[in-house]
Amino acid sequence: MKFRRKIYVVGGAHTPFIGKHSPDFIWKGHPDFGKRENPTLEELIHQVVHSALESTGVKPADIEKIYIGNFVGELFSNQGHLGSMVARVHPDLETKPIARTEAACASGGIAITAAIDALNAGHDIAMALGAEVQTTASARDGADYLARAAHYASERGIDDFTFPCLFARRAKAYKEATGATDEDIAHVVAKAYENGNRNPFAHMRTVKVSVEHAATASDKNPNFLKNPEYKEHLKITDCSQVSDGASAILLATEEGLEKLGIDKRSCVEILAYAQATSALGAVKDLTRLDNAAAAAERAYADAGLTPADVQVAEVHDCFAITELMMYEALGFAEYGQGGALARSGATRLDGSIPVNTGGGLMAFGHPVGATGVKQVLEIYRQMKGRCGDYQLATPPTIGLTANMGGDDRTTVVMLMRNVA
Ligand code: CAA
Repeated sequence: MKFRRKIYVVGGAHTPFIGKHSPDFIWKGHPDFGKRENPTLEELIHQVVHSALESTGVKPADIEKIYIGNFVGELFSNQGHLGSMVARVHPDLETKPIARTEAACASGGIAITAAIDALNAGHDIAMALGAEVQTTASARDGADYLARAAHYASERGIDDFTFPCLFARRAKAYKEATGATDEDIAHVVAKAYENGNRNPFAHMRTVKVSVEHAATASDKNPNFLKNPEYKEHLKITDCSQVSDGASAILLATEEGLEKLGIDKRSCVEILAYAQATSALGAVKDLTRLDNAAAAAERAYADAGLTPADVQVAEVHDCFAITELMMYEALGFAEYGQGGALARSGATRLDGSIPVNTGGGLMAFGHPVGATGVKQVLEIYRQMKGRCGDYQLATPPTIGLTANMGGDDRTTVVMLMRNVA
């Protein structure tokens, strides 16, 4: 969409992303078990809104509109109506217009597009946040909840772990069509963990995964699906995490920055966004993310940029194969060349197009509603030199995010520029 006004990311915050295998996650083997509990959805929302306000110096009273992305609060936390939940965070948020957005794993991306639309329509200062808790159920029961992002009536039965299996189906088709190998895919996994190991907020920050471990099924890294046709095409390390977490960003127009007394040079500009939506349960070509490609094409056109301009990207790696196919949908690699790009090292921190620098959904974690917001915050943090041990040597000027809901059914692509 071509913007009527200039839109800036002022800053933001995220909570640590936690879950099984994270040292911060309270489970029965944790020394604090019985003494404290993992944050609830409400607590995550409170934490992240307060941290975002503190880190930007914006006051709750300044905010004119808020959107919160969340996929299935009703199922994991018995809680819906999350706009009103955000109003509980601070008395000055009482009576503000706040609403929830839901588009499966793209819920956070849609919270940002809704906030941008509000700014284009006349508001000057907005917040977009996302939050999800998923560890209140086992991975198996949670898989049933997450399957609501697919066409439940026709796709739920593919496997107990519906989404992992839908992407194992894509991995099989892609490997057969292009000759890509499990080792190509393992390069994406090892990179995610290598980056996540440098990120103190990452769910899997203490878990090491090598290319060899990720490439080969073993007792420690099983092909865990039951579906006999797709089982061999997915291992545990190919999957994103079942995480709890929240992210929030503040957005403003030029007038908004003036009201806040914030210099635009401390901000990042969102140049364009594009959202594409395709019919549920009706993927036309399993070997391509064509919905993501449609969104990317529009976003590049509106921003006047090409894939060659992108210096850093946060892409939806719900499974390792997804990142590889994203390289192609976003124009970083030709069709069938995603594996070669991964192997070349170009998408590593020291490569020509670093992707998922904080560990992506596989290692940073994937609290579904928070992910799209976290992606934009990551690009902002890289551009402003705030990524600590995983900071790129040269802070990038142009960045891209691609946040995907379901089996590439809703995708939001954004292009951003550092204002220096
Ligand atoms: N040998 C054989 N089988 C094994 C095994 C072993 N050594 N270890 C585990 N398994 C099998 C078991 O069947 C086990 O299930 P049960 O314990 O219920 O029998 C199953 O694998 C899972 O094992 P765990 O429960 O121990 O696994 P975990 O808790 O470590 O979770 C995971 C691993 C299942 C991969 C989990 O991380 C997961 O589900 N990740 C994907 C999350 C997901 O799908 N998110 C959504 C992404 S899609 C998207 O982003 C778009 C959208 O809109 C939804």
